Amino acid sequence: MPLVSMRQLLDEAAKGGYGVGAFNVNNMEQIQSIMEAARETESPVIVQASRGARSYSQDRFLWHLMVAATELYPEIPTVLHLDHGNSPATCKSAIDLGFTSVMMDGSLMEDGKTPSSYEHNVKVTREVVAAAHAKGVTVEAEIGCLGGIEDGHGAGGSGMEHLTDPAQAEQFVKDTNCDALAIAIGTSHGAYKFTRKPDGEVLKMDVLIEIHKRLPTTHLVMHGSSSVPKELQDIINQYGGKLKQTWGVPVEEIQLGIKNGVRKINVDTDNRLAITGAIRKVFFETPEKFDPRDYLKPAREAMKKVVAERMVQFGQAGRAKEIKPIPMAEMAEMYKKQLVNA
Ligand code: 13P
Repeated sequence: MPLVSMRQLLDEAAKGGYGVGAFNVNNMEQIQSIMEAARETESPVIVQASRGARSYSQDRFLWHLMVAATELYPEIPTVLHLDHGNSPATCKSAIDLGFTSVMMDGSLMEDGKTPSSYEHNVKVTREVVAAAHAKGVTVEAEIGCLGGIEDGHGAGGSGMEHLTDPAQAEQFVKDTNCDALAIAIGTSHGAYKFTRKPDGEVLKMDVLIEIHKRLPTTHLVMHGSSSVPKELQDIINQYGGKLKQTWGVPVEEIQLGIKNGVRKINVDTDNRLAITGAIRKVFFETPEKFDPRDYLKPAREAMKKVVAERMVQFGQAGRAKEIKPIPMAEMAEMYKKQLVNA
């Protein structure tokens, strides 16, 4: 099965009332972990790469690894998505490479750090929507800014500084015709999201629910949605790591989000923690080992376990077979004829 459009997956998820995890990758082992988890749970899947990941993998390696994934896992509807594109040029280069979905994060300026104006966000998002839809490619946009920094990208801070304004979100979707909308509700990228189990003071599910009321057919995206499980923190610390205790987004809050229009859930940190814990354990317990396969295999297995667990929790498990891929050219035609709802 060739790579499919993210819009198709999210439309299916909306019909079925479930969410789809979007997992970040930089290398072969992470792609293998995700595809194995998808096969085991029969899930459609979104694989995403940031600018940092594209530069780490030199683009072409990433592309060919993804082609291999579609050849080896033909039964899995798979999206290749650009995470946090910082400019129309970055998004267009991903589209040219073959990504079937891009995020234009115009909530920040091109430096990926400075919060932008509404007008800037609308302008760059519209430009990407025009270029992407002409090729059937999906566009995720962002309004409001997340906290934290990931791969050098992010507004920093706790995540409470630039929450999404629901009225502005409503206007933004009208102004841009984006396919999916990332919103800021107090989450941030990375491991250090919350200093205690989050409640409504710091994780603004009420804002999410209000946005969904105003935009009932828009696919909402939750970024910074790793749960940062204590067990994964403990494994790292047990084998010589030094993580400070921290809290992520509880899975039950994500499930509440899914009941309220969230269709895409971004997870990176949980997988990083799982990989690092598994590698540390091998190094700690068998310091005489030096074959990379001795630690990359358990790392791959640990990430697969986390991804499979999330696929079940988000509800995408068992849904792969329901999706009959729409060719990208047909998606382009559907956008042209305005058959894809805003
Ligand atoms: P986490 O750091 O919570 O995994 O978030 C990842 C993310 O949102 C990627 O865009």
